[in-house]
Amino acid sequence: MKYYVLTLFPEMIEQGLGTSIMGRAQSQGTISLKSINIRDFSENKHGHVDDYPYGGGAGMVMQPGPVYRACEAVEQEIGHKARIIYMTPQGRVFDQKMAEELAQEEELVFLCGHYEGIDERVLELKVTDFVSIGDYVLTGGELPAMVMIDCISRLVPGVLNNNMSAEVESFYDNLLEYPQYTRPEEFMGMRVPEVLLSGHHANIEKWRRQQSIKRTLERRPDLLEEANLSKKEKQYLDQLLRERAKENNEEI
Ligand code: ADE
Repeated sequence: MKYYVLTLFPEMIEQGLGTSIMGRAQSQGTISLKSINIRDFSENKHGHVDDYPYGGGAGMVMQPGPVYRACEAVEQEIGHKARIIYMTPQGRVFDQKMAEELAQEEELVFLCGHYEGIDERVLELKVTDFVSIGDYVLTGGELPAMVMIDCISRLVPGVLNNNMSAEVESFYDNLLEYPQYTRPEEFMGMRVPEVLLSGHHANIEKWRRQQSIKRTLERRPDLLEEANLSKKEKQYLDQLLRERAKENNEEI
């Protein structure tokens, strides 16, 4: 996967994604990351890339020219049209499903705005996807782009050590991850669940799936509507719901 990030703060991207798993993936070549400074495409002698908004109002707006030229330069380097993702709270909200879809691309271009945003005309001309990372407003698109790059990269083959873990972790089958334990066997009087010490793989697997279902019901019941459950697992969920109703003296 090749990422290109158009930004006024390339060092933020390089530092943010230069360590740990993302750093290793870049050294290995499973992903590549190029930050492009939009300011390098300014034709203004002071290197300005923003100006006052037409019609008045607070703040500054990024001008279309430098952003347009930066996009063209990246498209030229790639050699064909690529998806250009503009990070904005006005976009479709990013989720694991979108990450899975984007992980299939060969290249992804992220456009990060600052100030009050980017002149609408260049967005119309160049952007293919408007994406938000959640219903809150940040000062720029860099952190959202880093969030997306991190999430998409762990789905790229070879980025994670163990090919299984991308699947098993939270949101696989739309369920939250089961609880994890390591040594010591007892901590502050709390023991590791016996089944995990049993070495009985089928029982461990069943317990983990049940814990995932229980946890999802407690913490993110909205996810269960789309969860992939076997007949037995559906029965387990019904049992949990009945127990809960009983505790609350509810009818179901
Ligand atoms: N830029 C500012 N806030 C944002 C958000 N929530 N998602 C994506 N880009 C943004």
